[in-house]
Amino acid sequence: MNRGSRIIGYGTALPERVITNHDLAQTLDTSDTWITERTGIKERRIGSTTRALAIEAAQGALDMAGVDAGDLDSVVLATTTPDRVIPATAGSVQTALGASCGAFDLNAACSGFVYGLNVAHGLILAGAEHVLLIGSETLSRFVDWEDRATAVLFGDGAGAVVLSATDGSGNALLGWALDCKGSLEKSLHCDFGGFIYMEGREVFRQAVRIMVDTCERALAAANLTTGDIDLVVPHQANARIIRSACEKLRISEDRTVQVLGWTGNTSSASIPLALADAAGNGRLATDDVVLLVGFGAGMTSASALLRWEL
Ligand code: UT7
Repeated sequence: MNRGSRIIGYGTALPERVITNHDLAQTLDTSDTWITERTGIKERRIGSTTRALAIEAAQGALDMAGVDAGDLDSVVLATTTPDRVIPATAGSVQTALGASCGAFDLNAACSGFVYGLNVAHGLILAGAEHVLLIGSETLSRFVDWEDRATAVLFGDGAGAVVLSATDGSGNALLGWALDCKGSLEKSLHCDFGGFIYMEGREVFRQAVRIMVDTCERALAAANLTTGDIDLVVPHQANARIIRSACEKLRISEDRTVQVLGWTGNTSSASIPLALADAAGNGRLATDDVVLLVGFGAGMTSASALLRWEL
């Protein structure tokens, strides 16, 4: 049987509190000009909990999908900022939604949502009907607000999708690639009780290379070329990283979605937030080919080529 998966609903959540670049420049040796030119970020949303943001985004996705939480077969919560070490935040989200199914956290940093997409797809191939996939983060809890090198970059938020089985009507996941270069783990990390530390320049350099590599691998797996891609939904870390990777891949930047200007870098949440923004603003039509691409601490990377079927 030709079993596959497709996205049938999406939802998002952002905290209410907005911190602009101008706000940060009041307490840090930085400026709106520097942050905007070097990153593309103008403001970020902070606050709430990973659980609360996940629940709000998930409920939106379930409502759009028309799927009852009780019909879910699994909840996969991609997060690098769980509310506690033990147990997984996913269980608390599952209970609040009224679901009764498997639930677990997945930590692949900023690649987490695309890792999760592949895991959710695998669960569906193994027999699940509906899988809820969430990316939710409260990075502001791990940012040293006195460190201008990182404080200007991160924000909080969540995005979620419902993936459902397609029996006999094709498969929306056309190709994928996952990778992790554990030898680079020191360039971006956060220890227990500490703050996020990042060697910005090194991560930037690696990010562009890794992004290009993972996209090329997913394209090869799908037997497609960059010319077949209608929209790229990249991890929202830095507009210059997106531009550089697009130049190398020969994809015009106007085929990318960028929400980082008002969300900052929200790690696992950034791709579903950008995907929902594109879909909500009419930038996706049925049958479009969408490339999701993430990279981040680990250093992990992940890409997925989807046929949009909403
Ligand atoms: O999601 C996980 C993956 N993370 C990323 O992809 C982030 C990757 N890295 C980056 O996005 C960029 O490296 C940053 C935005 C973090 C930094 O931009 P950059 O163009 O690489 O700047 P830099 O680190 O080379 O620093 C240039 C200068 C330095 O001063 P000197 O040494 O030239 O005097 C920094 O001290 O800019 C200084 N600087 C700042 N100045 C004003 C660093 N942060 C700031 C700041 N405001 N916030």
